[in-house]
Amino acid sequence: MGTKIFWIEGDGIGPEIWRAARPVINAALAAETSVVTLEWQELLAGEKAVREVGSPMPEATLNALRTADLAMKGPLGTPVGTGMRSLNVALRQGLDLYACIRPVRHFQGLETPVKHPERVNMVIFRENTEDVYAGVEFAALTPEARKLASFLREELGVTKVGDACAIGIKPMTEAGSKRLVRRALRYALDNKLPSLTLVHKGNIMKFTEGAFRQWGYDVAAQEFGDVTCTEKDMLPGRLVIKDRIADAMFQEALLRPEQYHVLATPNLNGDYISDALAAQVGGLGLAPGVNMSDTLAFYEATHGTAPTIAGQDKANPGSVILCGALMLEHIGQPGAAARIRQAVSKAIAAKAVTADLAPNVTGARVVGCQEFGEIIGSYL
Ligand code: NAI
Repeated sequence: MGTKIFWIEGDGIGPEIWRAARPVINAALAAETSVVTLEWQELLAGEKAVREVGSPMPEATLNALRTADLAMKGPLGTPVGTGMRSLNVALRQGLDLYACIRPVRHFQGLETPVKHPERVNMVIFRENTEDVYAGVEFAALTPEARKLASFLREELGVTKVGDACAIGIKPMTEAGSKRLVRRALRYALDNKLPSLTLVHKGNIMKFTEGAFRQWGYDVAAQEFGDVTCTEKDMLPGRLVIKDRIADAMFQEALLRPEQYHVLATPNLNGDYISDALAAQVGGLGLAPGVNMSDTLAFYEATHGTAPTIAGQDKANPGSVILCGALMLEHIGQPGAAARIRQAVSKAIAAKAVTADLAPNVTGARVVGCQEFGEIIGSYL
């Protein structure tokens, strides 16, 4: 049975990390089952698409993704000189990929800035379409910013917005917040995890972030009331819904990470905490991620195109390889996913790692991108 999966190679280090990663993903699946195979189908985007069809985001690519259920991508550079702000943002908005999901865990053998990185095992659900990322911003001293400032003063009685202000707008909706939290709740329940934490800055931004917190509690009570409880109730056997103000959550992540399992966050908080937690476990170069709509699971390397090392066989293919593990889990192959994670652990324990990981592995032997993939493959 062939499972169709679209893939986008990506720019910069994209080609080399895929060359190293795809055989590992295929081999992990083959080691578990001969019944399910992956049918990889390439879609063009980024520089390769410009070279071949003259556009960084061809309509054919978007059309294929609109009806797809599974896709993976390498990093895409931000095109210079086109009207497009960012290909990644265009994909997220065009495909309504509203949930950005990042699991964070430690691989033994990787030195980290904290004493007990193994206590971190969290999955972050970050809202991906709203908040300050909606791109509603006006530069200081432009006619638009002045007009908006004067509207705020004259029509709404706002006193703190002067004529020289740059202005950004933070739109957040009940529907947008609830669908993200609903997905995080389902994940926590499906995986029998003890807690879900709403991370917000509602003490200051009461009607946006504060509302996110309230909508989160509401969706838990209204749709999952018989299987969840709050920290006040603490009913046995139920998923505990907590909330933490974002700055306190950063402290908690360092001091008591074992008390947190699933985090549900608005866009900006999620952006910050995803990278902070990945760094805490020493795994920025290894962090996998997926962006999801209601129909499409779109896996992506979380790093960029690393232009200064592109084409030199120095890149770490780990993020795409671990995206493969997430994807295999999603298609009902947890055994193949576990093989990949164990193989990455063993490669790190064997101290044969790419240059970016070497400073975090005592006595490391630096290997190239291709060899790192082969070593991981040998441990499957
Ligand atoms: P970057 O992630 O490409 O590079 C940051 C640093 O990490 C560099 O020192 C780089 O050499 C290193 N690095 C990144 N990935 C690595 C890997 N797999 N193995 C070894 N070292 C690695 O971020 P930067 O420089 O800010 O962005 C470069 C380009 O990538 C920009 O055009 C940016 O827009 C794009 N980008 C794309 C993303 C995506 O497609 N999801 C995410 C982040 C940036």
